[in-house]
Order: sequence, then C-alpha cells, then structure tokens
Amino acid sequence: MPHKFVSYSQRDTVKIAEKAAAGIRRGDVIGLFGELGAGKTCFVRGFAKAFGVTETVNSPSFAIVNVYKGKTPVYHMDFYRIDNPDEIRAVGCEDYFYGDGVCLVEWAEKAENIMPPGRKEIHIKITGVSEREIVMKGFDFR
Ligand SMILES: Nc1ncnc2c1ncn2[C@@H]1O[C@H](COP(=O)(O)OP(=O)(O)O)[C@@H](O)[C@H]1O
Ligand SMILES: [Mg+2]
Repeated sequence: MPHKFVSYSQRDTVKIAEKAAAGIRRGDVIGLFGELGAGKTCFVRGFAKAFGVTETVNSPSFAIVNVYKGKTPVYHMDFYRIDNPDEIRAVGCEDYFYGDGVCLVEWAEKAENIMPPGRKEIHIKITGVSEREIVMKGFDFR
C-alpha cells in the first residue's frame, strides 16, 4: 500500500523524509520521481540527516553520484543529465545498487532497467507554491 503525505514547507519535507528513513535498511535502493523543483534533493537531505550524515547535501551536478558518510554510507545519485544508461554503468553505479549502503536516486526513470527489482519509490508532485504531495511505495511505517 502506498503511503501519502502532504508537505507545506521544505522543513516538512525533511521531517517526512526522516520518518521514512526509519524503516530503511542497508542495501535498500530508493528511486525519486518528480519534476525539477519538486523537492527530491530536499527529501534526500532529510534522509541523509536520519542516517547521521553531517555533510551538505546537494544534487551531484558534475558527478553522477555523491557518497556521504553516515551510520551507513548514503549514495546520492542524480541521473537528470544522463542520456544513455551505459553512462550509469560506466561510473559503476551498479556497485552502489548492490553495495553496503543506502541508495537514493533522483530521475530514477532514466535507469529503469538498471535499478534493482526490489527498489522503493518516492513520487513528489508540486501542488502549490510550497505544497507538495509525497507518495511512497514499499515503505514500512510503524
Ligand atoms: N514543501 C516543499 N518541500 C520541498 N521543497 C519545497 C517545498 N515548497 C517549496 N519548495 C522549494 O522547491 C524547491 C525544491 O528543490 P529541490 O529539492 O532541489 O528539487 P528537485 O531535486 O526535485 O529538483 C526548492 O527551491 C524549495 O525551496
Ligand atoms: Mg535535485
């Protein structure tokens, strides 16, 4: 069953992400979907915070992946500029997908056939200037 949340600010989105992170385990892969400015990177910020990451979280604009040190490693990927899935393979993202950390992937639709089958999904929709609808699939909330 998907879980649906409404966020009214960046702060809300960070909080919602922190909550979602509580059920995440080493080896989980999470695809983030939503247009530019939806709040995917903002969500990753909350997630990384929950994993004890203290570094600044920004979209990897020149690299394809940022690696953050936390309680478990957090791999933050952004495939916005990817034209061909071979570019993803070329930088070794598959090692991260099947590695020892948690993967968060912005523009996951560009890697549909490379992403592991058991992945979880976050879909963010812009519903107002500072309102967002966040739908999560595959998450456990207790
Ligand atoms: N409720 C909200 N949650 C997250 N971001 C929001 C929200 N309302 C407005 N924003 C704005 O939307 C933008 C989201 O940016 P970002 O997280 O980089 O998006 P993306 O990674 O999806 O392109 C920021 O400028 C932020 O200030
Ligand atoms: Mg982004």
